[in-house]
Amino acid sequence: MILKDKVALITGASRGIGKACAIAFAREGAKLALCATNLSLLEQTCSEIEQQFGQKPIHFAFDVRDSAKVNETVKKTLDTLSRIDILVNNAGTTRDQLLAMMSEEDWDTVLSINLKSVFLFTKAVTKPMIRQRSGRIINMSSVVGKTGNAGQANYAASKGGVIAFTKTAAKELAKRNITVNAIAPGFIQTDMTAQLGEKVAAEMGNVIPLGRFGKPEEVANTAVFLASEQAGYITGQVIGVDGGLGM
Ligand SMILES: NC(=O)c1ccc[n+]([C@@H]2O[C@H](COP(=O)([O-])OP(=O)(O)OC[C@H]3O[C@@H](n4cnc5c(N)ncnc54)[C@H](O)[C@@H]3O)[C@@H](O)[C@H]2O)c1
Repeated sequence: MILKDKVALITGASRGIGKACAIAFAREGAKLALCATNLSLLEQTCSEIEQQFGQKPIHFAFDVRDSAKVNETVKKTLDTLSRIDILVNNAGTTRDQLLAMMSEEDWDTVLSINLKSVFLFTKAVTKPMIRQRSGRIINMSSVVGKTGNAGQANYAASKGGVIAFTKTAAKELAKRNITVNAIAPGFIQTDMTAQLGEKVAAEMGNVIPLGRFGKPEEVANTAVFLASEQAGYITGQVIGVDGGLGM
């Protein structure tokens, strides 16, 4: 178990990639604090983890844009589990629309959920991680944060921002033995991509060099590695988990 007794705080953990990360981290022995918007889905994830691995994660249902709740969550996690070794900033959303029709509200919503929350959580864990003299921060970007994508100006800007933020935080925190990396998934089978519809999904399958969508577990495996001791000399990097799409 490569994360035995490490404490991991994971956002967006009720489903999709965040849930897969929670399960993979629990399998590797980590103690978990999980966040998401939907309490009943989050409780279901926690019960599944308890049944499979015998430990029930602590959990918090709230909106990641709420800075007071972010700080309260970090404090309660420290009070209950004593430390935070790993932060996975995974919560994210889309409001796709062509640029000319995109509302200011949809711009603000996506930027604040996908990018501001990464700043809020990272800032909140920085002091405890500095005190511990170690930490791992993993931010969920996207292949479109590197390439752009028609209809996703807000989403691509938020995910490009996550990459720039990751590199900046990595430079600031390296001397404190805290690594900060980003994962850039391609098209992964979750509720988020289920919205695309079968026709677009089939077209994308033809464009992806490996010829298929990825599984949430394939992203989670990379998060486990980045969180582990084995990744101790990796910081400020963007790891594509995209079937070759971002080449
Ligand atoms: N699925 C993909 O193909 C794909 C590709 C690239 C990047 N990503 C990124 O991976 C991450 C997870 O994506 P997914 O496909 O699992 O998505 P999903 O829609 O299945 O799950 C999103 C999670 O984020 C949480 N969340 C959303 N808005 C929130 C808010 N305001 N406050 C608190 N929690 C909130 C939800 O509760 C949920 O747990 C996202 O950051 C997404 O942008 C996904």
